[in-house]
Amino acid sequence: MTSGSRIDPWSSQQSTDYERIRDNFGLSNIEISKIPNPNLLHRRGIIFAHRGLDTILDRINHGDNFGVLTGLMPSGKMHLGHSMVINQVKWFQEQGGDVTVTVADLEALATRNVSLKEGRKIALSEYINNYAAMGLDPDKTNVYFQSMRPIVQRLGFTLGQKTNISEFEAIYGFSGETNLAHVQAPLVQAGDIVHPQLDEYGGLRPIVVPVGVDQDPHIRLTRGLVSKTNWFNVKNRKSGGLTIGLSIQEENKNLMGVSSNGSINRDVRNQLFDKLKSSLAKLGFADIMSNPKHGTIEIPGATILDKSKIQLSLLSLERNIGGMGFMPPSSTYHRFVVGMTGDKMSSSKPETTIFMHDSIEDMSKKVKRAFSGGQATVEEHRRLGGDLSKDVAYQYLQYFFEESDKELESIGRDYESGRLLAGEIKQICIDRATEWLTDLSEKRNQWSDRIEDFLSSDSKL
Ligand code: TRP
Repeated sequence: MTSGSRIDPWSSQQSTDYERIRDNFGLSNIEISKIPNPNLLHRRGIIFAHRGLDTILDRINHGDNFGVLTGLMPSGKMHLGHSMVINQVKWFQEQGGDVTVTVADLEALATRNVSLKEGRKIALSEYINNYAAMGLDPDKTNVYFQSMRPIVQRLGFTLGQKTNISEFEAIYGFSGETNLAHVQAPLVQAGDIVHPQLDEYGGLRPIVVPVGVDQDPHIRLTRGLVSKTNWFNVKNRKSGGLTIGLSIQEENKNLMGVSSNGSINRDVRNQLFDKLKSSLAKLGFADIMSNPKHGTIEIPGATILDKSKIQLSLLSLERNIGGMGFMPPSSTYHRFVVGMTGDKMSSSKPETTIFMHDSIEDMSKKVKRAFSGGQATVEEHRRLGGDLSKDVAYQYLQYFFEESDKELESIGRDYESGRLLAGEIKQICIDRATEWLTDLSEKRNQWSDRIEDFLSSDSKL
């Protein structure tokens, strides 16, 4: 594998060939018609791919519970790029999801040299107060610190049993020189992602993790690790329907009726199959072909839509008989917005982005200097029109500041036809961004002495 076919979550260099990323890494397309109450990022195709989102949409449509998880690295300042994930988290919350926010203070300590104390300060004053201002509901949001929730680290260790250095090489391109912080952090992150399914943190339910595509390696790793812990697999049956198979592992061998010499203990195997059959019967599947000897149950009448329902019921059985019973996480991916200079956005280059705390004056300066899709002279611009695909002011209206599709379309049309000049579209962007930032800062002030409302009890000092 060449490095071009890998995604490096620690690099500031990001590929923007999203179609290629989607195909190379097996992401699924977002079908906008299936998204209820689509927000601006959905409507404009900015959220472009997912893994396993159908499970979550199905929960939304049936009013069933599900969780949303996001994480922040408490280093540096929060900027517009970070706000995209929060926008999605908020949308999932409005559709009924409960929200867990990871403050990755251990990851910041290990990979960015930020002390835990400093990390806490940055998380609260730079990130969580902006999340509050963006409209997350404190009653349905739980913020925790990796360093203060030892169970996520413990889970990282447990899940670590299911992987090895070769897999890390393949996913992340690690070599002998790789710092071990980069080995630990993904395992803790896997712990972050699955732990809301523990009984103490909301129990068995699907969890969705909206991320930028740079975080997909962690999602892929976690989905793989979780699948390897599962005691039962649900697969598509060749001649239609679904097949359940046993995943026999060291820790479940006895329960699955495999004796130490490898032979099958029929009584034990049959007992297990009785439990499986009664779980399926509760879901209304009576027409099944059970083959305890081979360790399979076929359900010809089940459709792909039944898959996650069956999975959940098997996971709850798995928990009852001693397994961990985790669902693989679902995820969504957004496109990155271009930096203000036309290059990549980067926190270490303030001129490439707008920070949530930027003054109106700083923001205006950045927009005025932003990369433009306008022509060299007014005469040419009137004749040829502006290029929306390059124009930063237009793209920031599209990604952040102009909520109305109709208005955005009309601005775009005027710009492309040359009626609207480059300076004029920048002024529109400045006006909308001014409203946006002013509103955010007012809301931030309203929340400033109530940020603790967002913290889970294990994260209060
Ligand atoms: N690694 C993420 C970052 O660099 C932070 C993070 C930690 C995270 N745990 C997470 C993100 C869980 C999403 C889900 O920003």
